[in-house]
Amino acid sequence: MPDLSNLKKAAAEKAVDSYVEDGMTVGLGTGSTAYFAILRVGELVAQGYKLRCVATSQQTEDIARQHGIEIADIDGVDSIDVTIDGADEIDPHLNLIKGLGGALLREKIVAAATVAEVIVADETKLVEKLGTKAPLPVEVCRFGHGKTSYGLARNGCQPTLRMKDGEPFVSDGGNYIYDCRFPDGIEKPYFMQSAIDTIPGVVECGLFLNCAVSAVIAHSDGTIEERKA
Ligand code: 5RP
Repeated sequence: MPDLSNLKKAAAEKAVDSYVEDGMTVGLGTGSTAYFAILRVGELVAQGYKLRCVATSQQTEDIARQHGIEIADIDGVDSIDVTIDGADEIDPHLNLIKGLGGALLREKIVAAATVAEVIVADETKLVEKLGTKAPLPVEVCRFGHGKTSYGLARNGCQPTLRMKDGEPFVSDGGNYIYDCRFPDGIEKPYFMQSAIDTIPGVVECGLFLNCAVSAVIAHSDGTIEERKA
């Protein structure tokens, strides 16, 4: 796997410079690409920008604070002007799979409160059909999670309980995550989202449909492309 850090950094910085203005309320995403956006926002704060920021994970909150960014309680802000977040897959309609970083629940809550959800990514995240490269993360209640996984499997995927250090991974919300592999990708993402959302025990699904207004994609040839919904 080539080192994609330069591409992630380029996309993240371009998105912050294009979308973040003094006085805004800004959502800070989670993951190795959003990390560079947090650093850039930290630079703007150091320059004197007055921003209110909300975080999509504890990890992001910690990184932001280390870089001089104060984090507000999401319930203390009316709406979020722009959120800059990463993605695991981006299809031609800017529908997304998110959650390999384990933050899908807070990411979706923040996205739902956001006017402009801007995705930052390197070119490896682009797919023709969702579910062809990445598994679909689904956050589930710990109680009866095995039963919930049978419900997931009935939708044509192979769900695998995410592990960390030999134990099930626990999200910021205290839940487990199943990574669901679809052998032929996800044919109808909207139907799949509805089907998954109705399974008892499912807390949140990593499909982010009709959510992003823009995706800033860095390519290995040095160009940065912006795709708008
Ligand atoms: C975390 C996410 C991330 O945005 C996604 O996993 C992309 O991360 P990275 O930029 O490290 O590839 O959804 O829950």
